[in-house]
Amino acid sequence: MMCGIIGYVGYRSAVPIIVEGLKRLEYRGYDSAGLSVISGSGITLLRAVGPVAGLEKKITALSAGACGIGHTRWATMGAVNEENAHPHSDCTGKIHIVHNGIIENFGELKAGLESRGHLFLSQTDSEAIAHLIEEESAGCDSFADAVRRALKKIRGSFATVVLCASNPDTLIAARHESPLLIGVGDSENLVASDATAVLSHTDRVIYLEDGDVATITPNSVSISDMDGAGVCREIVKIEWSLDEAEKSGYEHYMLKEINEQPSAIREAIMGRISPAEPIIDIGLGEEDASGLKAITLVGCGTSYYAGLAARHFIERCTGLPVNVEIASEYRYYGMPKSGDLVVAITQSGETADTLAAVKQAKKAGARVYAVTNVIGSTITRIADRVMLTRAGPEISVASTKAFTTQMVVLQLLALRLSQLTGNISAKEVADHSSHLHRLSRLVQETLERRDAVMQAASGIAEKTAAFYIGRGQNYPIALEGALKLKEISYVHAEGFAAGELKHGPLALIDENTPIVAIVAGDPTYEKTLSNIAEIKARGSPVIALAFDSDTDVEKQADIVLRIPDAPFDVAPLLCAVTLQLLAYYVAKARGCSIDRPRNLAKSVTVE
Ligand code: AGP
Repeated sequence: MMCGIIGYVGYRSAVPIIVEGLKRLEYRGYDSAGLSVISGSGITLLRAVGPVAGLEKKITALSAGACGIGHTRWATMGAVNEENAHPHSDCTGKIHIVHNGIIENFGELKAGLESRGHLFLSQTDSEAIAHLIEEESAGCDSFADAVRRALKKIRGSFATVVLCASNPDTLIAARHESPLLIGVGDSENLVASDATAVLSHTDRVIYLEDGDVATITPNSVSISDMDGAGVCREIVKIEWSLDEAEKSGYEHYMLKEINEQPSAIREAIMGRISPAEPIIDIGLGEEDASGLKAITLVGCGTSYYAGLAARHFIERCTGLPVNVEIASEYRYYGMPKSGDLVVAITQSGETADTLAAVKQAKKAGARVYAVTNVIGSTITRIADRVMLTRAGPEISVASTKAFTTQMVVLQLLALRLSQLTGNISAKEVADHSSHLHRLSRLVQETLERRDAVMQAASGIAEKTAAFYIGRGQNYPIALEGALKLKEISYVHAEGFAAGELKHGPLALIDENTPIVAIVAGDPTYEKTLSNIAEIKARGSPVIALAFDSDTDVEKQADIVLRIPDAPFDVAPLLCAVTLQLLAYYVAKARGCSIDRPRNLAKSVTVE
C-alpha cells in the first residue's frame, strides 16, 4: 500500500515494461524510484529521487535484459534519497530485491547481519531481506528455498520480489499483509502490487495470499507456502478498466482509502507496540519528557479535529494540560514558550498555516514534533521529532485514513509520554495497547455495515442542512463528520457539542433538518439521549450512532447506525469511519465530484 512494485520475466526487453508499470503505480508512492535488470552475467541497477520520469532520464543504454524488477517508494523508514530507493542488493550485488511493507524486527536482524560481516548501504529495513537471502543461499542450492528461509526470519509485512544473477530467467515473489499479484502472459509473466501495472499486457492475474511464495519464469508460475509445499491459486480475469484498477476497483479514491483503514491502522502501530510488555516505540526517549509543562496540538481542518479528538486521552495519560489550536490562528495569536511541546498534525506536511505556526513555536524555543503522512515533506525538516502515520498516499481531497491513523499515532504519543512521566500504570498502558491492536478488526467490522449507512444517506441527500452532535470525545467526531459531509456533498453541515443545542442551535432545528447524534462511547450517554429527546420534540429526524449492545437509543432515534461494541478509547474512530461512509454516500447520491470537490485542494500550501 505504501510503495509500488513491478517485475517482468519473458522474451521482451524488461526496462520499458518496468518503467511503464512504475508510471502506472506512481499514485501508490512517488518520492523515489528504481529498477534492476539482468544484463549479461550481472545486474544493472538504476535509481533516482523524485518521480519515475527522473529515473527514465537516467536510462541511456537500454539494457536488453528480459528479467527485471522495479519500485516506486513511499518512504516509511530512511530519508528520501537515492541510496534508500529500491531495489536493494546483498553484499555480492548478485541478489536484488524490492519490498513493500514494514519489517518489525529490523533492528535485531540488522545487528545480527552486521555482526556476521554484512555491510548495509541504506537506512531502510528492506535491505535486510537481500542480506538474509544471501546468507541462506550459501546453505542451499534452490533460490526459492533460500528466499523462503530468509523470509521466515522476518516479522512484519512484506510484498517482495527477488532477482538473482545466477537465475537469470526467474523471479521469486512473496507476500505477507502487503498486496502482490502475478500477471499471466504468453511466454512472459509479470508481478506487481496491483493490476494497474499489468493490465496493458494481460487481464489474467493470480492474487497471491499471505504466506505464498511464487517462482516465476517466462513459461511457468509455481506457488508454494513458506515451507515449500505446493499451493494452488486460480487465475482470474480482471474486468476493470485501467482507471478503475488505480482505485482497486472502487469507484472513487475516497472509498478506496476509507476501506484501506484496517490495513493503514495495522501499519500505523506495526513495530511500535511490542506484544510482550508494551513498550511504545515511536522514537521518544527520556529526554523528550523532561521539563514538559504543557502540550499544544496544532493543525488545520481534519488534522485539527484529530488533535481535538486526542486531547482528553493525552491529558489523561500525561496529566499535562493540552491545548488544541487552529494553525491559521495560532501562527498570529499563539503564545508558544520555551519548554512547551508543540505537536503539528498534518497529512501532507506542507500546509502553509501549520508550517508557519510551527516556525513561530521553534522561534520561541518550543520543542516541535510532527505527526505526518509524508516523509521528506517540509514539516519533517522543521520538526525535532517525526511520527509517521504510514497511511500510504491519500489521493482524495477528503481526508479519511490519514485522520484515523493520526488519531492512532497521537494515542501512541500519549501512551509513550505516560510511560516516560509514569503518569498512568503499566497495566493501563497495556490495556490501551491491546485496544489499538483490536482496532483494525473493529474498523473492518464497521466497514461491513456500509449498506445501513447507504440507506441512512438517502435521508440526507435531499436536505439542505444537517447537524451533528456529540459530547466529550465524540464532539470532535461530530465536527469531523460535518466537515466530511459539507466538503464533498455541499450540504451545509455543522457539528455541535450536544450540550450547546439549547444555547442557540436548537432554533435552527425543524422537521427538515436531519440530526446525526453520536452516542457510542459517550461517557455522558444519558445526557445525549435527552438531547435526542429534545430534538425529537421538534420533529427533526435523528440518525444515532450507537453500540450494538445499546437497547435504549432506538426508542428515541429514527435510524440507528450500529457501531461494534468497543473500548471507549477507540470507539470514536469507529464513529468517524461510519461518518466518512455517510458523507460518501450522500455525495454519491447527489452526483458530486467526490475525489475533487469544488474550490478545494488536497494540500493548502498557501495562506
Ligand atoms: C480534510 O478532509 C480536508 N482535506 C482538509 O481539511 C485538510 O484536513 C486540511 O487542509 C489539513 O491538511 P493537512 O493535514 O495536509 O495539513
